[in-house]
Amino acid sequence: MLPKIKILDEKNKMLRQISKEVTFPLSDKDKELIANSLKYLEMSQIEEYSNKYNLRPGMGLAFIQLGVPKRIFVVVDEVEDGKFDYYVIINPKILSHSEELIYVEEGEGCLSVNRPVDGIVPRYARMKIEAYDENGELFTYRLREDLSVAFQHEMDHLDGILFVDKIDPKNPFKNKDRMRSI
Ligand code: NI
Repeated sequence: MLPKIKILDEKNKMLRQISKEVTFPLSDKDKELIANSLKYLEMSQIEEYSNKYNLRPGMGLAFIQLGVPKRIFVVVDEVEDGKFDYYVIINPKILSHSEELIYVEEGEGCLSVNRPVDGIVPRYARMKIEAYDENGELFTYRLREDLSVAFQHEMDHLDGILFVDKIDPKNPFKNKDRMRSI
């Protein structure tokens, strides 16, 4: 069964809020929202379910996209066929990042942006962050390539920023030559 979650569209001004730091322990409601978001993302990446429920495949979801302004996001990364890594990221902080910038060749997507958007979004190729998990334990993550992009995209959501904000509509492929595509 597809978990019942409602994802806000980019027109909703709530997405522009700066989400608040989270204190522990999490409420049962927040834990349920985390579990549902992970399940939803996983199902969206499995063809059988994405066809059945007409889902756009998504790798990440931030709580604000569900109307909850807390600094929480989840990422589901398909590491090999049908095998997924799950990340629950709370109150993340960037510790360091590469100078090198990358962008996603086919463009970024967002479950809140329901239209095609052309252009490149510069992201750090690598970064190190620290964040709490759902039990309030602090972890360090070293991220690279698509996972680094996904985390930066979600961290932007926590500050009310959408990927489309980072594309200059007059020159959507600006500085392309200074970055590596992935
Ligand atoms: Ni998004």
